[in-house]
Amino acid sequence: MDSFTLVIFGITSNLAQKYMIPALYDMEEKGMLAIDTNIVGIARRQMANEDLHKYIGQVLNMENIHHRHAIKEEVFNRLCDRFEYLSGEIEDQTTYDNLKKELKNKNIIFYLATYPELYSYIFEHLQKNNLSKSRTGWIRLMIEKPIGHDLPSAKALNGLLTGYFTEDQIFRLDHYLGKETLQNILTFRFANDIFEPLINKNFIDHIQITASEDFGIGKRGGYYDQVGALKDVGQNHQLQMLSFATMDAPAKFTSLSIAKEKIKIIKNLQPLPDHIVFGQYEGYQQEENVLPDSSTDTFYALKTFIKNSRFENVPIYIRAGKKLNQTATEISIVFKNPPNRLHVNFGDEPNVLIYRIQPNEGIVFKISTKLPGYETKIKPEYMQYCYRIDPHKHYIPDPYEKLLVDAMRGEHTFFNDAEAVEAQWAFIDPLAARRGKPAQYKAGSWGPKEADRLLEKDGRKWLEPSMDFCRI
Ligand code: BG6
Repeated sequence: MDSFTLVIFGITSNLAQKYMIPALYDMEEKGMLAIDTNIVGIARRQMANEDLHKYIGQVLNMENIHHRHAIKEEVFNRLCDRFEYLSGEIEDQTTYDNLKKELKNKNIIFYLATYPELYSYIFEHLQKNNLSKSRTGWIRLMIEKPIGHDLPSAKALNGLLTGYFTEDQIFRLDHYLGKETLQNILTFRFANDIFEPLINKNFIDHIQITASEDFGIGKRGGYYDQVGALKDVGQNHQLQMLSFATMDAPAKFTSLSIAKEKIKIIKNLQPLPDHIVFGQYEGYQQEENVLPDSSTDTFYALKTFIKNSRFENVPIYIRAGKKLNQTATEISIVFKNPPNRLHVNFGDEPNVLIYRIQPNEGIVFKISTKLPGYETKIKPEYMQYCYRIDPHKHYIPDPYEKLLVDAMRGEHTFFNDAEAVEAQWAFIDPLAARRGKPAQYKAGSWGPKEADRLLEKDGRKWLEPSMDFCRI
């Protein structure tokens, strides 16, 4: 692997703490960082290098659902040796003068974990300091979702980006695309021939996508209150999930072919502003940095359709929220019941194909089985492919680790391009415009009753994510 300098704008941000620093630790442990690779962390606060090391230690030992393994001292020390801290203002030329002294490699990745309002200053300064292009190595830019806050702002940001960088330098990151469990959906669907003929309107009754979290917004009020659930995870992570589960087979397993199929799904999604529900957990308005009369959604549930012949009239229900009953992210493909079940005892429990993104990671098929005995009694069971090994013990690479490796290799397959991001907003904008006063729901519930009604009207109900499969 090439050596490079990773520059993290916003090293003290939540993103750096929750994702990037733990991913760098894992890469260090696996020996994936070339010997000369160095890391520069930039933030405003004054901190000596030793304080930065202390901070990294705290971050690595913090409660983190995705990073739960023990921290080895020698790995931690090796990682700290790569780090240099720069305190400075993004808008200040001195920051870039200092930065230039720390660029020990001809290859550079700039990773932006700052507020988007600061991007233009960063790009401007990088260009002014001849840091946006390189003649001898490569320079790449990783920026986080959400790209913009609606379609016009996404277009403006994409325009801004391409004013300074070429498209092949830009890596628009949505960490769901780096999840092994999401990437495996494509392999499962296209490397096995038996399921794909069933994934269409003839066999599928409907599709559900759930991303529920049993925790609140924590200290992220400043960011979250401006965004809300629909734009925080609905515009991006959940649309990626949907497109992976429903796209047609790409002509080749290349970035371009996959992007082409993904985008067809997003562009064909039908926004139905009369079929969206927004919720807010009780007590949200008292969270840190949240407006006391905030109407930000911490929950949403919607219904949509894909306008293509393959999924014609197959409803898709998507929901996400904080402080819900449990933490689980999954896609459930619910199959139709055959019109003539052989025996009334067989009941009407549908088959469900579940892509469980987390926890109990796996791909499982819910089937009906006979309970052993003299009677014909039906028991739902799971045929399962499980990752089996505890993901917190590193077996499944962290998405940031995978995406950083891809960016190092210049591989764009699991990043978004401008067109994809804009298509996502084109779907979300008319729905977001419908947000009024969100319905309140109790912490620990499954969201407001209105979300249940959304399905009940169609004679369906939400599936509660099961923890009965892929237990470690
Ligand atoms: C982030 C959102 O992008 O994704 C968070 O900003 C959300 O609000 C998180 O909690 C979910 O990611 P994961 O990997 O924990 O499912």
